[in-house]
Amino acid sequence: MTEAVVDVHLPDDHAARSLAADVLTGLTATPKSLPPKWFYDARGSELFEQITRLPEYYPTRAEREILATRAREIAGETGAHTLVELGSGSSEKTRLLLDSLHETLSQIVVLDVSETALREASAALSAEYPKAQVNGVVGDFTEHLDLLPGEPARLVAFLGGTIGNLLPVERARFLASVRAVLKPGEWLLLGTDLVKDEATVVAAYDDSAGVTAEFNRNVLHVLNRELDADFDVDAFEHVALWDAENEWIEMRLRSTRDQRVRIAALDLDVSFAAGEEMRTEISAKFRRERVAEELSTAGFVLTNWWTDAEGRFALSLAKAE
Ligand code: SAH
Ligand code: AVI
Repeated sequence: MTEAVVDVHLPDDHAARSLAADVLTGLTATPKSLPPKWFYDARGSELFEQITRLPEYYPTRAEREILATRAREIAGETGAHTLVELGSGSSEKTRLLLDSLHETLSQIVVLDVSETALREASAALSAEYPKAQVNGVVGDFTEHLDLLPGEPARLVAFLGGTIGNLLPVERARFLASVRAVLKPGEWLLLGTDLVKDEATVVAAYDDSAGVTAEFNRNVLHVLNRELDADFDVDAFEHVALWDAENEWIEMRLRSTRDQRVRIAALDLDVSFAAGEEMRTEISAKFRRERVAEELSTAGFVLTNWWTDAEGRFALSLAKAE
């Protein structure tokens, strides 16, 4: 068995430098915001795994159902030699694809910003799929796609609905950058959560056990640790709000009192008024037409669109033109 090779494409001070820039921009803007990629330290990745098992959080189960039904079709159509998974996390659902791709697959590349999640998943995949070379890349999928290893024909999987965590302009840039690293005829498998009734979506992002609230507040622990900040994490409450116009759900953190936070590494003091809300994530929900159009704009043609039986989530298979 070949051991997984893990490359770290983030400099040692990435968390400090890139987080510092994001925090400076986000917390000096009106309204305040933070990008969602900073949720995922070791604790954040573990909390996300807990979220995937919550009764209210349907996307993971729905996507798993589609993969279980369609993995053989995907394998047959793509004949992929390399599976590249972006924002791979635990790669739990990905096993369904890998099991079907075994006849053609020789390499598995997993990329994630969360080093702990990536190392754990790479080692497990390497043990479970001994015939494939496993490469783990610690990196940012909005910046480091040009560094991805892997021989054609490649199938890039971007699962879980993570594309919905990018703003529309970031989404367009991201899809174009995926297209730019692929040769014509290579593949993208994209998971998107679908527009549905507000109550179902809100419950998925505001679960009764409070796990999503803890996941949301975890970003403040990251700031306290990485930037020597002094957020009183308990003085912020979790908010999940459906934005009907944009068709996305927003997670926010609401300050429960007037407070001043010191971010020592930035030599920055930030004031929060009682009731002030800071956006920490958007999670866009899609319709088929929008997915097809955005893929087409990026240079892909949508070849297959599959949903779970309840029509909650979609998997799109698209070919680079
Ligand atoms: N694909 C998995 C995990 C989804 S959670 C699933 O479907 O269950 C989102 C994952 O994307 C996390 O593992 C997180 O660390 C990673 N992530 C978030 N922003 C990222 C970025 N900008 N670059 C790379 N990985 C990122
Ligand atoms: C990773 N991403 C697709 C999740 C989502 O549903 O937008 C992150 C998440 N946020 C709250 N719960 C889960």
